[in-house]
Amino acid sequence: MTNVVPALARVESHDLIEVGFTVNGTPAQPRVAARVTLSDVLRDQLGLTGTHVGCEHGVCGMCTVLLDGAAVRACLVFAVQLQGSEITTVEALGRPDQLHPLQEAFSRHHGLQCGFCTPGFLMSAFDLLSHRPDVTRAELPNELSGVLCRCTGYRNIIDAVDDVACAYREGLPGPGNCNSGRSLVGRNAAGPVSTPQDPVGNQETDADGGGLHTIDAIRLPTSEPTVTITVDRQIGATMDGVARVFSDVQLMARCLPGAQLTDDLGGGRYAGRATIGLGPVKLSFRGVAQIVDQQRDRITILAQGRDAGGSGAQAQFSLAAEPSAEGARLTADAQMFLTGRIAGFGRSLAGDVSRRMFADFAAAIEQAARGEEPVAAEPPSAARLLTAALASRMSAWWAAARSRIARRGAGVQNSDDR
Ligand code: FES
Ligand code: FES
Repeated sequence: MTNVVPALARVESHDLIEVGFTVNGTPAQPRVAARVTLSDVLRDQLGLTGTHVGCEHGVCGMCTVLLDGAAVRACLVFAVQLQGSEITTVEALGRPDQLHPLQEAFSRHHGLQCGFCTPGFLMSAFDLLSHRPDVTRAELPNELSGVLCRCTGYRNIIDAVDDVACAYREGLPGPGNCNSGRSLVGRNAAGPVSTPQDPVGNQETDADGGGLHTIDAIRLPTSEPTVTITVDRQIGATMDGVARVFSDVQLMARCLPGAQLTDDLGGGRYAGRATIGLGPVKLSFRGVAQIVDQQRDRITILAQGRDAGGSGAQAQFSLAAEPSAEGARLTADAQMFLTGRIAGFGRSLAGDVSRRMFADFAAAIEQAARGEEPVAAEPPSAARLLTAALASRMSAWWAAARSRIARRGAGVQNSDDR
């Protein structure tokens, strides 16, 4: 492997670096942060989701691809190392109407159960038989041990690979689906599109994330949201105060922890950024917000953004207020669609942290509606959000434990009474 980042290149974590390489015969030129892995670029920026990601630290082999003809774990290769490289993924092996012999053999021997490990096994076996056409059946378990199958489909996998090894001692056919003219398409609605004539990947964001500004209208995915949040609270503010906040987009942005509007794009669209910390990972989203409904007593906003590390977020925020004895009742709903690394934190943790942020948002709106400057202007602290999320789980657990103990106590007392 000869491609390395210039030895003394120094970049900030949020800087994007353009890197040019070939994927399955199609040129790609994504702009990536230095920490982004090849597996994330393939899946999130180029839409090649055939490369699966399991452990993300080099153990399971699910993410195996070929880099300049040799098998590598895509989760251990930084995309910035790939300048001038040729990447081959499982999508290149064969076509639906003409499978590669390895794919045919896996099908014939049923070398899979759930199929999650299959791309890794196919690429690992392809590498093995390309370099060791004389490999024996006895050697296969050891030679293929770099890929783990959770369903224990090993016997059939060994049968399939042995079959192909025996049939092609003179040399394994190469990938049959390179230079297919396949367009590379990002999974996110803001993602890039390319053809072999039009290198992919750099349309997504310009130096300040501005590529997203060209989105005319934000469309949310039709799938189930990753996280749905509802916050309902009585606020000590008048409806007039709430209406003043709903009419002032800058003021509302100051209520959202870590958010900042950077540009008014016209037509109810705004460019902005938002920062959030999740454990050791700090995500800095840049994107666009669009007001789709704005009344005295309610407002609906769509937002879409990406982090330089490949995380994507799309969301719909709806806030509504109605008069109440205390002043007003504020209901806030959010539906969030997360992709990339942020989604990898799991619905539960991402949901806890998002809920905490949204509760802070509602509290800051109450302050603003009372005429005070909202205090949620600081980016959310990872430690604070996670501690609060864990504290709320602990308190729920403790409440459940206390009620179990109380129920048991009542049961003992009842049996004593009998
Ligand atoms: S995801 Fe790369 S080795 Fe497990
Ligand atoms: S077939 Fe399920 S992990 Fe291998």
